[in-house]
Amino acid sequence: MTTPLEIIVLAAGQGTRMRSDLPKVLHPIGGRPLLECVCNTAAALAPERIHVVYGHGGAEVRERLGHLEVHWVEQAEQLGTGHAVAQAIDAVDPGSRVLVLYGDVPLITAGTLRRLAAAADGERLALLTVRLSDPTGYGRVVRGADGAVCRIVEQKDATTDEAAIDEINTGFLAVGAARLAGWLARLGNDNAQGEYYLTDIFAMAAADSVPIATEGTGDAEEVMGINDRVQLATLERALQRRQAEALMRDGVTLTDPARFDLRGELTVGRDVVIEPNVIIEGQVSLGDRVRIGANTVLTNVQIGTGTEVLPMSVLEDAIVGTGCHIGPFARIRPGTRLADGARIGNFVEVKKSDIGAGSKVNHLSYIGDTRMGAGVNIGAGTITCNYDGANKHRTLIGDGAFIGSDTQLVAPVEIGEGATIGAGSTITREAPPGELTLSRSRQQTVKGWKPPKKSREE
Ligand code: UD1
Ligand code: CA
Repeated sequence: MTTPLEIIVLAAGQGTRMRSDLPKVLHPIGGRPLLECVCNTAAALAPERIHVVYGHGGAEVRERLGHLEVHWVEQAEQLGTGHAVAQAIDAVDPGSRVLVLYGDVPLITAGTLRRLAAAADGERLALLTVRLSDPTGYGRVVRGADGAVCRIVEQKDATTDEAAIDEINTGFLAVGAARLAGWLARLGNDNAQGEYYLTDIFAMAAADSVPIATEGTGDAEEVMGINDRVQLATLERALQRRQAEALMRDGVTLTDPARFDLRGELTVGRDVVIEPNVIIEGQVSLGDRVRIGANTVLTNVQIGTGTEVLPMSVLEDAIVGTGCHIGPFARIRPGTRLADGARIGNFVEVKKSDIGAGSKVNHLSYIGDTRMGAGVNIGAGTITCNYDGANKHRTLIGDGAFIGSDTQLVAPVEIGEGATIGAGSTITREAPPGELTLSRSRQQTVKGWKPPKKSREE
């Protein structure tokens, strides 16, 4: 039986270089706060518990991330990484194995963490290291003549020889909880930064003859931390590239994977095509053969098989059926449902409305708070006047109705099945089914009318 696992995430640092009012770990990557991203990866290992050590901006961090299933541990004063882990260790079962993660190192993968945790099984202390052509700023991994790790030295405490070592401490480590607790209790802060260094446990392990195992990763992005917005942007692109590659391997065509942003979760059918500069947020699902045109933003939408969204469209909190056509330049707002085969054309805004199967709203319209049946045709420039200045009202449009162009439907109002509304009408009362209704002053021609002429004086 393997030892139970508990994870400690260090997230108390200040993040001064972000130059932000927002605590660093709340800055988003892939649409999620950095710390949430790390906690999600931690959760993928199914640990007994996740302990998050927080400090700077604590109230805001806890409030924003209150939904995470973690044990919050406050580190009121940031006295170093060793001090931070020490705050959490009392809550950890001494019989478990501890894995230490960082709230500002978001791209670590569950696969690498599993290898690291496995390397700490038994009596070993396991460390994730990488070799960097420029190791400046990192702790260096000092090995003895036999190749075994004997300690870690921080940049600021390193001799010139030690500073030349290119194998660095990523910070990620795993070890038995009881051993860790013993070492933490012995940490001092007699060093260049006057901090309690977590890294000092490596010299203690060597002195206690605890074997130290190292694991590596071929992907340096996994262990890159975020200190400023340049690094945030760099890792955002790295995350987007990873996600884009996963989607393409799943059979999605991304016309340009470098111009695609997924900030949430996307599920896809077969042969989906996504053109450049599409942004996908929240929970989005696209059925088979869906095509999403350039410069489109999809937020929390479900789109059925074969539907095509043409460029420059914005869809939010909507459910779209199969074989629909949307855009270009369409805006589908929250609470909208399009039944199969519906068509929403250019410069059309739809809000909180049901559009029936095969119905068409092709040009320059606003449809709000409306229930529209099937096979309806809405002429260009039609507006549902749903707001009287105080309240919103509903418009009902029966199957097969035909609304002439430039009509205002003043809600609450009902248009019967198969009714026809003459162009340019302002409809304020029920329009009966199957009949032509119009409200329009009669056209007249004034016979013999002459245009005025300029008077002489002027
Ligand atoms: C640390 C390591 C260094 C390693 C580097 C990798 C130590 C002493 N040094 O250095 O060997 O190469 O990370 O990036 O461990 N934190 C707290 N509370 C504290 C101090 C830090 O929660 O009191 C958190 C920070 O929020 C951050 C992480 O611990 O997420 C690392 O702290 P940081 O100050 O960045 O450590 P480094 O000096 O970079
Ligand atoms: Ca750091």
